[in-house]
Amino acid sequence: MKHVCSLLTLLVSASTLASEPTVEDFGKTKDGEAVQLYTLKNEKGLVAKIMTRGATLVELHAPDKDGKSADIILGWDDVAGYESEDNQYFGCTTGRVCNRIAKGKFTLDGEEYTLATNNDPNHLHGGAERSLDKVVWKATPFTNKFGQGIRFNYTSPDGEEGYPGKLKVSVSYVLANSANRLTINYKATTDKATPVNLTNHAYFNLGGAGSDTVLNHQLKLNADNYTPTDDTLIPTGKIESVEKTPLDFRKMRKIGARVEKLTETAALGYDHNFVLNSKKDNDSRYNLAAMLRDPESGRTLRISTTEPGIQFYSGNFLKGQNGKDGKTYAHRSALCLETQHFPDSVNHDSFPSTILKPGDEYMSSTSYTFGVTKEQDQKTEK
Ligand code: BGC
Repeated sequence: MKHVCSLLTLLVSASTLASEPTVEDFGKTKDGEAVQLYTLKNEKGLVAKIMTRGATLVELHAPDKDGKSADIILGWDDVAGYESEDNQYFGCTTGRVCNRIAKGKFTLDGEEYTLATNNDPNHLHGGAERSLDKVVWKATPFTNKFGQGIRFNYTSPDGEEGYPGKLKVSVSYVLANSANRLTINYKATTDKATPVNLTNHAYFNLGGAGSDTVLNHQLKLNADNYTPTDDTLIPTGKIESVEKTPLDFRKMRKIGARVEKLTETAALGYDHNFVLNSKKDNDSRYNLAAMLRDPESGRTLRISTTEPGIQFYSGNFLKGQNGKDGKTYAHRSALCLETQHFPDSVNHDSFPSTILKPGDEYMSSTSYTFGVTKEQDQKTEK
């Protein structure tokens, strides 16, 4: 009897497990390294495809208010697209330190480090040659009672891209089976103190990648404050209120309503780090960061994170690239909502620290929950 019961338990739990992720070849890098593309699916209609180069989100399909699915992130059909000059970090895992480091310099434990200034005069998104978006990661698919996932591992040697310490990084994408939620979990350890700040750089257009503009999307950010910057987008160190500025997204606002007020600034539109309000629910590691919706398709996206900040970037440098499926990516036709520690934290003692020490573990997690709204009256503030 006991055996029958445990067999039954086994069968029941097996039947509640999601099916296995699938894998296909995605081509080769210019150095001849093979790249694989993994597919995660759930029973609610969300499909995510992630490749081993840069642990990059290549496709993300979500249903609209009529149940029609579309790929809602920018990308390319092949590795060559991702290796081209046109790639502005589409969908990638970004690091070792995402966003900017002033003049590519920082001092840690009395030693000065110099990094690539690949966004003149600053360092951007981990460097020029071997940043985390450009290397091929090792993938391990898994399935558990919550859904399907892929864990990507990469060991960055001491000194790679100028950063100290051998950094062991893992990024797991987990697609929930019973909700339209994709969660990205980041972990890292080091053998020398080193800055770490990881994010995903997906460009979203909830109307479908290749749709004209995101200026009709509506956004709400859980942020009373932001970090003002100089003309090279490096924080001044101050933390200021969004009140009476075009950065006030405390209530749902149409993105296009005030973007032109920023076009003549150094940011050329929205390209700002918002300081997330501290957690209301102390039981949860996660904090609500952003709500995005597209009135046309009805698709909505809710982002929760363990990170203290979020960079909202309105695709100001998109320039009409030809992307996946023959689609064109026009100026401001997609946006990024990058959960992270604040830019240039390594040079600002007053910001939450990005320094990882030997013996400690870096941990960060962000969840993206997709839904639909059928509301006719989608109210926004002026
Ligand atoms: C930055 C932008 C930059 C873009 C590059 C964003 O994270 O904030 O300034 O142009 O990445 O892809």
